[in-house]
Amino acid sequence: MKNETLSVPLSGRSYDICIGDNLLEQAGQIIAPFLNRPKVVVVTDENVLKAQGARLRSGLEAGGIKHNFITLQPGEATKSFQQLEQLTGQLLDLDVERTDVVIAFGGGVVGDITGFASAILRRGCNFIQIPTTLLAQVDSAVGGKTAVNVPQGKNLIGAFHQPAFVMADISTLETLPARELRAGYAEIVKYGLISDPEFFDWLDSNHPMILEKAGHKERAYAVKKSCAAKAKIVAQDEREKGERALLNLGHTFGHAFEAAYGYSDSVLHGEAVALGMALAFDFSTQLGLCPSEDTAHVKTHLRAANLPTTVSDLKPLPDLTSKKLLSLMMQDKKMQAGEMTLILASGIGKAIITNNVSLKDLEQFLEHTIAK
Ligand code: NAD
Ligand code: GLY
Repeated sequence: MKNETLSVPLSGRSYDICIGDNLLEQAGQIIAPFLNRPKVVVVTDENVLKAQGARLRSGLEAGGIKHNFITLQPGEATKSFQQLEQLTGQLLDLDVERTDVVIAFGGGVVGDITGFASAILRRGCNFIQIPTTLLAQVDSAVGGKTAVNVPQGKNLIGAFHQPAFVMADISTLETLPARELRAGYAEIVKYGLISDPEFFDWLDSNHPMILEKAGHKERAYAVKKSCAAKAKIVAQDEREKGERALLNLGHTFGHAFEAAYGYSDSVLHGEAVALGMALAFDFSTQLGLCPSEDTAHVKTHLRAANLPTTVSDLKPLPDLTSKKLLSLMMQDKKMQAGEMTLILASGIGKAIITNNVSLKDLEQFLEHTIAK
């Protein structure tokens, strides 16, 4: 596969996304132009280190770049204040200067906490994203949202801090567990559902290949399409004053489930997003906004990819109530003057931003959803 470069044009903070194969082995040469001195700190997690660490090390060594690795525990629970404090302390102990580059090497968890640590370290240092999950390659590594979770909700403490460069090596996905591949796939479907019905149609025919080991070509295509879609939206609305909110399709519902399950691996982020998108379509249909055939089509598609579309697809959670879910949804960052902004849809490829949702209707919908 030929390397491809997309750009995220942002005034003063533009950067490129390089998508290709076996990029890790060339990492030293590829990232050298971004370095003030030939030295980086790589933040990763134990699984990524084991599966892909040697490849990145050899790539950095080949380019004569000195490196220290900081290895975090895998899993969503790592995106915490406590881990952030520890990580920033380790970066300071390694004498990372403002003009140095910190590399986030892993999935969205590593990317989000490393990006946030970089945003606040000495009031902001440079960072590069080397995403190694499908989810991170199609979504979290691009766009500069960084955060940690708190008991009140997902990603509630964070900053916008754009990376200097994103290097997505498709071959890293070969060691990704199947469940993680499926979770990342949910974020790919999201782009089709937001505004690209042709891409959704393509996914209808090609999703088995994306989820299978043999589907290298299809995966690369889906990563490129997704990054291009995200780059376009981020370039127009970096700080989510408007249309970037569309990228949250399924997320207000999904984040509430993640928080309710204590950010455990009972429900992965991508799985929560899949369920959230199914619920957003269901709710849109209930409100008379979206044809029921479109909602049925979305749910059939997600189910075919082995993703959850109903609460009963998740592990039972006895104390889950509509009140609790609603209060978690109301912690959403898009709340304005007590009004919830919810991303709904008037059809496949027609996501809409709504801010006049009746909380009573929503609670009733959640009650019905939990009881199903
Ligand atoms: P993750 O980072 O937890 O990675 C999933 C699992 O795969 C982990 O166990 C990890 O160790 C392992 N792994 C990663 N790469 C591997 C590889 N190549 N081979 C083998 N194992 C590998 O999860 P994720 O799904 O990548 O990210 C989820 C996070 O991303 C959530 O916290 C979510 O909130 C965040 N997110 C952020 C944005 C954003 O814009 N910043 C967007 C979407 C999601
Ligand atoms: N993942 C949502 C966003 O980046 O805006």
